Amino acid sequence: MKILGGLVLVGAALLFWGWGFLVESAVKQPIEFPHKAHLDLKDPKFECTTCHDRAEKGAIAGRPSTKKCLSCHSSGEAKSAEEKKLQALGEKGGEIPWQRVWRLPSHVFFSHRTHLVRAKLPCQTCHGPMETLTRPPARALKKLTMNDCIGCHEQWQWPKEARETKGRGEVAAAKERAAEPVTSAAVTRVSTDCNACHK
Ligand code: HEC
Ligand code: HEC
Ligand code: HEC
Ligand code: HEC
Ligand code: HEC
Repeated sequence: MKILGGLVLVGAALLFWGWGFLVESAVKQPIEFPHKAHLDLKDPKFECTTCHDRAEKGAIAGRPSTKKCLSCHSSGEAKSAEEKKLQALGEKGGEIPWQRVWRLPSHVFFSHRTHLVRAKLPCQTCHGPMETLTRPPARALKKLTMNDCIGCHEQWQWPKEARETKGRGEVAAAKERAAEPVTSAAVTRVSTDCNACHK
């Protein structure tokens, strides 16, 4: 009986593990928002930070308010089921309950600002080609493990300063940076101490 009980427990544990894994790996968003359609627009021209406007200010990148969506999607009759949902949410005056896709465990500290304003990394380094998506990502396009974080911190060399990157695409500017020689090797190392990232 004991052995049988044990087997049932192991079976249940495996089932739960599998379940947890499945739940974690597929996210369904309330509205089928297409990044591509919006980033392809010429007028207005969107940058990633037009909508994720807290990214350069603090730890969190944030999502646009429903109000911002409705500034374009509220006029006239809804053209699609998705637009209808959007308008209905707007009428209730609520925010769209977007789900998180990228999420670090709570014991890890990460700030967008540090990586965007100081290190000047393009979003794509960590998030992959979001601008090509015609629907919300069900899972992270790029996984960030501890080794990915530490790998970059270990090898990081500050690029030549005072470069004119204004008005050019983030990706193009980053490619250019990567191709340039570094003025002096490793001026300041980026921390790989456990407690730089762990609270
Ligand atoms: C018009 C507004 C808008 C623009 C512009 C925009 N996004 Fe988004 N972004 C959203 C919305 C809305 C969501 C939530 C729905 C989804 O996941 O697609 C989102 C979700 C995300 C997520 C998933 C976050 C998570 O963990 O749930 C990432 C990463 C992201 N965007 C990166 C980018 C990048 C990189 C760019 C530029 C290439 C960009 N976004 C441009 C509106 C925008
Ligand atoms: C600057 C105006 C503008 C803003 C702001 C904007 N959109 Fe759009 N959106 C568009 C345009 C233009 C299209 C492409 C229309 C088409 O393909 O028919 C589009 C397409 C879409 C589509 C796919 C087409 C459909 O009707 O199903 C969805 C869904 C959508 N937007 C949701 C959103 C959400 C959610 C937000 C806020 C996070 C948002 N949009 C913000 C202009 C905008
Ligand atoms: C150095 C890697 C890195 C870069 C560069 C980066 N992100 Fe993130 N992003 C992350 C990580 C890690 C998370 C999960 C953070 C957490 O759970 O605390 C995240 C989460 C997010 C989220 C969801 C949670 C939130 O903060 O609102 C959005 C949206 C997002 N990123 C957008 C962007 C955009 C837009 C850019 C560029 C302007 C960008 N990210 C650049 C690593 C990065
Ligand atoms: C592609 C390179 C790259 C990746 C990937 C990256 N970082 Fe960084 N990170 C940097 C650079 C460069 C700095 C230094 C910025 C500065 O000095 O202000 C930095 C700084 C930091 C700091 C502040 C360290 C200090 O000394 O105060 C923390 C914390 C941090 N990163 C956490 C993370 C975490 C967590 C991840 C993975 C989810 C990550 N980073 C991924 C390049 C990267
Ligand atoms: C540059 C940031 C960074 C540094 C430095 C760092 N970690 Fe981490 N660590 C992470 C991230 C991000 C995760 C969560 C993602 C993952 O598990 O790969 C993590 C996860 C962990 C976990 C949990 C693993 C799990 O399976 O849940 C442990 C334990 C850990 N780190 C220990 C350490 C120790 C010890 C050091 C110092 C030798 C260290 N970390 C240094 C970013 C970092």
